[in-house]
Amino acid sequence: MSTLKTVAAAVIACAVVGGVGFIAFAEYGQHKNFASISAKVDSADPAQVKRGQYVAITSDCVACHTVPGGQPYAGGYALQTPFGTIKASNITQDTETGIGGWSLDQFDKAVRHGIGTHGYLYPAMPYTAYTKMSDQDVADLYAYISTLAPVKHKVVENELPFPFNQRMLLAGWNLLFFKDEPFIATSGTPPQVARGDYLVNGPGHCAACHTAKNLLGGDVAEALQGGTLQGWHAPDLTSNPHTGLGKWSDEDVISYLKTGSSRQSVASGPMLEAVENSTQHMNDQDLQAITAYLKTLPSGKAEVPVAVAASDPQMIQGKRVFESQCEACHVSSGAGVRRMIPELRGNAQVNAKDPASLLNVVLMGADAPLTAGNPTGAGMPRFDWKLADEDIAAVQTYIRNSWGNSAAKVTAEQVKAARAEVGAKPWLGH
Ligand code: HEC
Ligand code: HEC
Ligand code: HEC
Repeated sequence: MSTLKTVAAAVIACAVVGGVGFIAFAEYGQHKNFASISAKVDSADPAQVKRGQYVAITSDCVACHTVPGGQPYAGGYALQTPFGTIKASNITQDTETGIGGWSLDQFDKAVRHGIGTHGYLYPAMPYTAYTKMSDQDVADLYAYISTLAPVKHKVVENELPFPFNQRMLLAGWNLLFFKDEPFIATSGTPPQVARGDYLVNGPGHCAACHTAKNLLGGDVAEALQGGTLQGWHAPDLTSNPHTGLGKWSDEDVISYLKTGSSRQSVASGPMLEAVENSTQHMNDQDLQAITAYLKTLPSGKAEVPVAVAASDPQMIQGKRVFESQCEACHVSSGAGVRRMIPELRGNAQVNAKDPASLLNVVLMGADAPLTAGNPTGAGMPRFDWKLADEDIAAVQTYIRNSWGNSAAKVTAEQVKAARAEVGAKPWLGH
């Protein structure tokens, strides 16, 4: 019997015996031994440690396993999920509170198969993508992580409410949404595209943010066509010309990943962190590979909505707000200032179905990325205290429907909800 059938049979059996079978199955999965990694580990080999450090960069382990301003890899960073807060573990070499003394197989079981010290890991840890990492990369990463100085720092990972705090549930989640399969390049793909595919869908875990999630937090079928998390929208990365990278040249994508800005856009929020910790440190060959792969992604359904008419009362109000508050920087044609102020015209994020990032940036402002390639970024001021919900909604509708852009109107209710979500200050006017 294939494993798939075994699994299906297990699910049916559970229904019959009222869950007892499922728990037994879940227990079994938890204690299962996975094939040992063939690649060798030598933490005294500086070349392997160096390779492992690069793997840590491409997979951005530091992003979640470090609290801002805290000790690298000592854990405690809180990830907000729709089900509650999950904290990332301490993965330094401390034997009591970290992963000191772990074997390579134990490490592999956590990183690629989602089973850690407390049992099944929550998919907030992106093992769903890391499962595609090669044996060699995992061994190199282990060699590097083994050199991290121990930091004593106790983390309580799981503070979710019942029933979500029951790790056994994750066995069911894995059955539904986790394909524990190694990376296999599609046959006939050029090596550069295959490398990009590996980086994007394996270590780079781009889909963690750029693929929308269903109600249970599993990936929807429309891979890399945009997703929303923690008050930000991570846009479509396919070649969709309206909401995706269809109008971005290879140079634009590489520049964005390397410096956090391109002709079209400037990174903020979680992407700013991804650029600062991860993509800016990738070598040019890998950035080219990612770009080459993204360029092969077919556009999803290209639904270009009809633009709201300039005579619409909300558009008239929005234009007025734009002229008094935004035009000095973003320019009346929406063209911005090259590599300083992003162009709003033809901007995929501005055309996105979900205005979450636009609301976030206009309410809270944004610091431009500080990267080696772009050391003096400009900032976007915050408008939460300065503009009423109706004015923010109007200016959003205006930028989303001017200069050839077209996207759904933004309402004052959406602005109100976004204020609560991102923790904005109240409007000081009246
Ligand atoms: C998007 C955030 C995120 C990223 C990126 C991430 N992790 Fe995690 N990791 C977590 C969270 C959250 C947990 C705790 C999950 C839980 O307790 O169920 C965790 C748990 C772990 C554990 C299990 C620890 C234990 O005691 O069971 C290990 C090992 C680990 N991560 C290693 C890594 C490595 C290595 C990388 C980079 C390849 C990485 N993580 C990248 C969020 C992340
Ligand atoms: C932690 C979540 C997260 C991860 C992981 C992530 N992104 Fe993003 N990404 C975002 C968000 C949010 C934005 C929108 C940022 C903004 O509006 O300034 C974004 C924007 C982008 C953009 C600009 C798109 C546009 O139209 O403006 C590109 C290109 C991009 N990401 C590529 C990638 C690639 C490639 C990876 C994997 C190597 C990746 N991202 C991983 C969250 C993420
Ligand atoms: C002082 C100059 C300045 C003013 C005034 C200003 N902006 Fe910005 N804006 C910026 C800069 C710089 C960025 C890029 C910041 C970043 O993402 O790190 C930006 C980013 C944005 C973005 C995000 C674009 C993207 O690709 O993610 C939007 C949307 C935006 N501004 C809209 C507005 C609106 C609407 C107003 C008026 C209410 C406004 N801005 C006023 C400088 C300005």
